[in-house]
Amino acid sequence: MKLIDGKAIADQIKQEIAAEVADIKAAGGKIPHLAVIIVGHDGGSETYVAHKVKSCEQVGFKSTKICFEADVTEETLLEQIDALNKDADVDGFIVQLPLPKHISEQKVIEAIDYRKDVDGFHPINVGRTSIGLPSFVSATPAGIMELLKRYEIETSGKHCVVIGRSNIVGKPVTSLMMQKAYPGDATVTICHSRTKNLKEITLQADIIIAAMGSPKFLKADMVKDGAVIIDVGTTRVPAPDTKTGFKLTGDVDFENVAPKCSYITPVPGGVGPMTICSLMKNTLLAGKKEVYK
Ligand code: GUN
Repeated sequence: MKLIDGKAIADQIKQEIAAEVADIKAAGGKIPHLAVIIVGHDGGSETYVAHKVKSCEQVGFKSTKICFEADVTEETLLEQIDALNKDADVDGFIVQLPLPKHISEQKVIEAIDYRKDVDGFHPINVGRTSIGLPSFVSATPAGIMELLKRYEIETSGKHCVVIGRSNIVGKPVTSLMMQKAYPGDATVTICHSRTKNLKEITLQADIIIAAMGSPKFLKADMVKDGAVIIDVGTTRVPAPDTKTGFKLTGDVDFENVAPKCSYITPVPGGVGPMTICSLMKNTLLAGKKEVYK
């Protein structure tokens, strides 16, 4: 069994991005600029945004954090998005999700100029990704593909089972895994909460991408020997003995599943660190106008 070290790969990619930013700076070019909007004080969101801002510093990007209280109106938020769309200095920006219930996430996502949508959530980016056109690919699926690539894991003709059908992970990773490319060229089955014979299907999988947000759901008897396991789960499970009071827990029963696998991602330290790294990569592409002119 080989552990897929997402932290090490993410550090390596961040160094590669930092080297490119240094070259841009030396040539007198424009430093990529990411703006992040956060609404309210959700603990998870504040942590993620702090990591995103810190990563910008590490790779040499300019970053701007814009905070609103949870009672901000949808109109004010949309005005802010419009201002960022028009701000020539901002190459890309994101609105951290989830948003308070009185604000439509879909309206917010669609208000972002797709050319600055470094989260890859806009329907234009989602659609372009699904038909294999240049696009901003959303961070978690892009991070998963990068891990498969850097560990040279064979995907062509393999049976990949994706568990979870979210717009952010399940659906986009499904379209990437079946694309005519490497990584890709896989036969993909997507399972979800209404799938009847889940274990029967996961037992056929060469690669399992578990992304349903159900802690330790995937058990050893659901996995065939030698499978590749990608665990996207990041549920905060209460753990009174820890400093934070919770333990980040994946969708895979790691302890029992790991001995059966050829490769497996841990939680934390697997897919998680790759996610922010993909956002940095998209911001670099946005800064260089490589996806859209
Ligand atoms: N909330 C959880 N993951 C993400 C993400 O990748 N982007 C944004 N904007 N919000 C999130």
